[in-house]
Amino acid sequence: LTPIHWDSAGSRPLVCKYHGWSFDSEGKLRRIPFEKEVYRYTDLEKKKLCLKRFKVELVGRLIFVNVSDDPLPIEKQIVPDLLRQLREISGSFDSSYAKQVSRRKFNWKLVYENLRDGLHVPFVHPKTLSNLIEYDVSKIPVRIDWSMSLGALSHGGADAPIPNLPAEDWHSNVDRWPCGSFYHNWLIYPNLHLLTATCGNSFSIEYHEPVSPGETDVHLYFVTAKRKNPSWDPTEVLNGHFQGADVILSEDYGVLEKLQENLARASLAPALGAYEWWNFRIESWYLRAIGRARVEDYITQYLGWPLRVIAATLNYGKKHGWKPLFKKVLRFG
Ligand SMILES: [Fe+2]
Repeated sequence: LTPIHWDSAGSRPLVCKYHGWSFDSEGKLRRIPFEKEVYRYTDLEKKKLCLKRFKVELVGRLIFVNVSDDPLPIEKQIVPDLLRQLREISGSFDSSYAKQVSRRKFNWKLVYENLRDGLHVPFVHPKTLSNLIEYDVSKIPVRIDWSMSLGALSHGGADAPIPNLPAEDWHSNVDRWPCGSFYHNWLIYPNLHLLTATCGNSFSIEYHEPVSPGETDVHLYFVTAKRKNPSWDPTEVLNGHFQGADVILSEDYGVLEKLQENLARASLAPALGAYEWWNFRIESWYLRAIGRARVEDYITQYLGWPLRVIAATLNYGKKHGWKPLFKKVLRFG
C-alpha cells in the first residue's frame, strides 16, 4: 500500500518507489522488476495486480474524484445549474496557480457551518471582509425550506455587492470573468469552497480535508483569470492573495479553533436561528446519512420542522410581501 505518488501535484509515470512496479495510464500492470527471479506470479495472479479505479468527473477544468466503491452520479450531488456555473468559471481560470496547505485544529464540519453563516461577518471580519463587501443583515435569506436532497446542500452565485473594488494594475493583464461588482461564492457540499473577491479577476479554491476529529488540512489555491499576455508572471499577485487570505482566514479559524476546544465540554443542544436554515438542512441530512439520527433528533426535526416552516413562511411574507410568497408556494407545488 505504498503510495504511487508522494507529491500532491506534478506529473510522473506510475512507478512505485518501493519495488519499482510500473503501471500504464489505465492503471494496468506494466512491469515488475525481477518478477521471474523472485516473485514467480502466475498469469492469473498478475491479472489481479492493477491499481484501484475511482470514478472521475471533469466539470470544466475541475476534476472531481469519488473514492466510494459505489459512487453516486455527480448530478445527484451537484444540481445541473451549479455544474454549469462551475464549468463556466473554471473555463476562466489561468493555467498557472499557487497552492498552500495548512493544518488547523478544528473538525472539518465547523468550516462548512462557518461558511454558511452570513451573520458572523461584521463580528469576525470588522476591518477586512466588512470593508470590502456591502454588508446588509436584512439580505441574509430566511427562507421557506423543504429541501431534503443531497443536491440541495450545495449552492453558488452572486453574494454581497463589492461597491468599490480598488483598481489594480494587474487587472489589465487578465481576461476578467464578467460577473458585475459582486462577491461570488460557490459552496459545494461537503468540503469545497470557490470564490472570487476581486469581481472575476482572480479566484480562490478551498478544499477542507478531514485529518482527525479535531484536525483539518485546508488546501488553498489561488488562480487569476486567464492571462492576456502569456509573458506576464502572476506569481507576485498570487502571493499577495495568500497574504490577504491569511488575515481573513485566521480571523475565521481563530474562532473555529476556540470553538473546537470547547466542543468536548459543551452540553447544550444547539439553538439554531431561523437564518441558519442551510446548516440545519445539512445537519439533518448528515445525521440521517451516517445513521446517527437519534429519537430526540427525529422529534426535533420532524416535529420542529412544521413550526420552522410556519415561522419561515411568516417571516418571508413579512419581508418580501405575500404575493411573491404565494407565487413561490405555487411554484413548489
Ligand atoms: Fe468568515
